[in-house]
Amino acid sequence: SIVYLNGEYLPLEEAKIPVLDRGFIFGDGVYEVIPVYDRRPFRLAEHLRRLQHSLDGIRLANPLTEAEWSECITHIAEAAETEDQGIYLQVTRGPAPRDHAFPKVVRQTVFIMSTPLTTPPRELVEQGVSAVTAVDNRWLRCDIKAIALLPNVLLRQLAVDAGCAETILLRDGFLTEGAASNVFVVRDGVILAPPKSNLMLPGITYDVVLEIAANQGFAHAVRQVSEAELRGAEEIWLTSSTKEVTAVTRLDGRPVADGRPGPLFWKMHAAYQAFKQ
Ligand code: PDD
Repeated sequence: SIVYLNGEYLPLEEAKIPVLDRGFIFGDGVYEVIPVYDRRPFRLAEHLRRLQHSLDGIRLANPLTEAEWSECITHIAEAAETEDQGIYLQVTRGPAPRDHAFPKVVRQTVFIMSTPLTTPPRELVEQGVSAVTAVDNRWLRCDIKAIALLPNVLLRQLAVDAGCAETILLRDGFLTEGAASNVFVVRDGVILAPPKSNLMLPGITYDVVLEIAANQGFAHAVRQVSEAELRGAEEIWLTSSTKEVTAVTRLDGRPVADGRPGPLFWKMHAAYQAFKQ
C-alpha cells in the first residue's frame, strides 16, 4: 500500500528513514490514529487539533498546515485497499547527531500510513472483553500522544500475559485510562468519565461518547472514579478509535456485574454505530 513520507507518496517497502532519526533514537515525536469509515476520516479536525496539542507539548513546529494534513490523509485513504481504515500518522524531531538537546535546525520526519480497520467483531461486542488492573506508572504528560510508548507497551503486555484485552490503570487509587484506551464506568445507572487532565489522553472517542450521552439524555457525569467504584461497577467500557466502545465483562478474573455487557452499553453501542456513519 501507499504511504506518505516527507512530501512523497511511495510503497511502504520503499519508505525508509535514517537511523539517527530522533524518533528512533529518543522516541522524540508524536502520533495520531484516525479512523476512516467508507473512506471518510472520522473527526479529522478534532484529531488534527489534538496533534497540534501534542506538538505544542513537545515544542515541535507543525510541519504541515491543516489543509495539507487533510489533503495527504485523504490521498492515503483513497489509495488504500479497504473502505474502513485506521490512519496512522507520526511526526518526529527528525534526523540529527545524537544529543538530547534539540537540534539547531529541525527537519521533521512526517509519516502517514493506512491499515485496514478491524473494529470489534460481533462476538467480542456480545461477550465483552477481560481486563486486568495495574498501577499507572507513566509520566505526568499523558495528555501528549507521544510515540515513546514503552510504559504503555509494558502495561498492555500484562493484559496479554493474563489472556486479557486491556490493562486498566489506577493512579493514587483513581482510574485514569487504559494502556491504549479511555475507560468509562457505569454506577447507579450513571455513566462516569474521569475528567481530562495531564494524567490521561483526551480521547476523540471519549468526546464522542460523552456527546452521544448528552444528545440521547443518558445520565452521565465527568468526575474522578475511585478504585472501589471501578471494582463495584455495573458496567465498564473501553473506548478508542480502533476499539470504538467495548464492554469489559471481567476485571482481574472476576465478572463485572453478571459478566455480560450491560443495558447502557447496548444503548451506547447502537448510538455509536449510527453516529459514526
Ligand atoms: N490509542 N488513551 C490512550 C493511552 C490511547 O493510546 C488511546 C488511543 C486512547 C483513545 O483515544 P482515541 O479515542 O482518540 O483513539 C486513550 C490509539 C488507538 C493507538 O495508540 O493505537
